[in-house]
Amino acid sequence: MISAGLPTGSLKSQKKFLLCSPDHFDVTFEINPWMSAERRPDRKKSWREWEGLVANLRAAGAEVHHFPSLPGLSDMVFPTDVGIVAGGCFVRGRFRHPERRDEAAFGATWLLEHGFAEIPWPDDPDMYLEGGDVVRFGDVLLCGNGPRTSPAAAMHLSRVFDKQVVTVPIVDPRFYHLDMSFCPLDDRRAIYAPDVWDQEGRRVIESLVPEPLVISIDEALSFCANSVVVGNTVVMPSCPPRVRSALLDWGFTVCISPVDEFIKAGGGIRCMALDLNLIARPGHVSLDPPSDDRPVGGELGSGAR
Ligand code: ARG
Repeated sequence: MISAGLPTGSLKSQKKFLLCSPDHFDVTFEINPWMSAERRPDRKKSWREWEGLVANLRAAGAEVHHFPSLPGLSDMVFPTDVGIVAGGCFVRGRFRHPERRDEAAFGATWLLEHGFAEIPWPDDPDMYLEGGDVVRFGDVLLCGNGPRTSPAAAMHLSRVFDKQVVTVPIVDPRFYHLDMSFCPLDDRRAIYAPDVWDQEGRRVIESLVPEPLVISIDEALSFCANSVVVGNTVVMPSCPPRVRSALLDWGFTVCISPVDEFIKAGGGIRCMALDLNLIARPGHVSLDPPSDDRPVGGELGSGAR
């Protein structure tokens, strides 16, 4: 396995995130149902929330890196979408909307400068992949398919990371990335909102997660599934009471880090914190130029065939 990227340091399992500061954060276009040029974020409040998030992630035990956003790229504050990073390597995001496409190059530049190796894409203009659609549960990668990511991209991930990839068709446009309806808590438990997916997606997830915390659409609209877990702490934009008591019963600590200004752009905490090692135990990571896109070593679940 190739190992590059930031030095692991003494805490091998420590979570490492990359955030992007809100220097140029704004809502200037509308590419999801949450965005409205009539409801622009407040600059001061955005900075306060972003600094609060950095502090909360660090207090929970994560290592946080960050880089500044650039003029003209108002969604750069959501670096999770710029790629999938694992085992010191990364696959660059291929954004569906032209408004966000330049972000991928800036994210890739940061990763390359910090020692991560880039895994090339096959030459296929119809492949789209946004990092918010890719979530790991145990040893399986779940890949949302619908508004932002194409099934062929899921096959590419399976091939290069040597992992089983299950695609989950998203049918509710308000939850256009999978990380808005699925939050892994550990290798057995996850928060998820099944009503956001088609029937086959629901079936696959139900058979995959032994101990689910099923939430309604109304609960999911609070962005509670767009959270990250650091050690035992679930860092969340907000948390409906029923979800909070289930998490506490399971022994988690709940840390609320409000990001209301960012939700105006349709993104919460998971979107704002790129996991620098999404797959804890990647298989053989392939840096070879792709020849075809048949998955190796992984099998594809619903919708990807
Ligand atoms: N405005 C951004 C977009 O529509 C929000 C990105 C949210 N990212 C995420 N991982 N869910 O693309």
